[in-house]
Amino acid sequence: MWLASRGMEVWGVDVSPVAIGLARELASRYGVADRCRFEAVDLDDGLPEGPLVDLLLCHLFRDHRLDEAMIGRLAPGGLLAVVVRSEVGAGPAPFHARPGELRDAFGGLDVLTEGEDEGMAWILARRSM
Ligand SMILES: C[S@@+](CC[C@H](N)C(=O)[O-])C[C@H]1O[C@@H](n2cnc3c(N)ncnc32)[C@H](O)[C@@H]1O
Repeated sequence: MWLASRGMEVWGVDVSPVAIGLARELASRYGVADRCRFEAVDLDDGLPEGPLVDLLLCHLFRDHRLDEAMIGRLAPGGLLAVVVRSEVGAGPAPFHARPGELRDAFGGLDVLTEGEDEGMAWILARRSM
């Protein structure tokens, strides 16, 4: 909603049709439905085909098999933002990134900011022009 309200064309995916339905409802409520497309997609099948993007946001979903495809989907100068649960400050658990995992996965990009604390890990990185 935040990105769309700032004029970006947004494409959101999740495997859950319930989540997709809620996202569509929210977009209508915020008056940004015309700039949003939400689709039920199973990312176990890989990243769906699509154009290069200026921003790829991956929030609270982690599958290392998608790392290369996510990097490859960025337009020159495009931003990658990833936020996941982390072992750092929380301990190991399913879907918790291990220490340094996001840096190892995306450190080939120009890293603008990153962190690991209190059970969360995040990275914001840019593809070179
Ligand atoms: C912790 S929730 C985060 C939801 C949302 N991204 C957010 O930040 O509020 C994890 C999400 O991953 C989705 N998910 C789980 N497995 C998936 C898959 N194979 N493909 C796509 N989405 C999946 C779930 O449906 C769930 O909505």
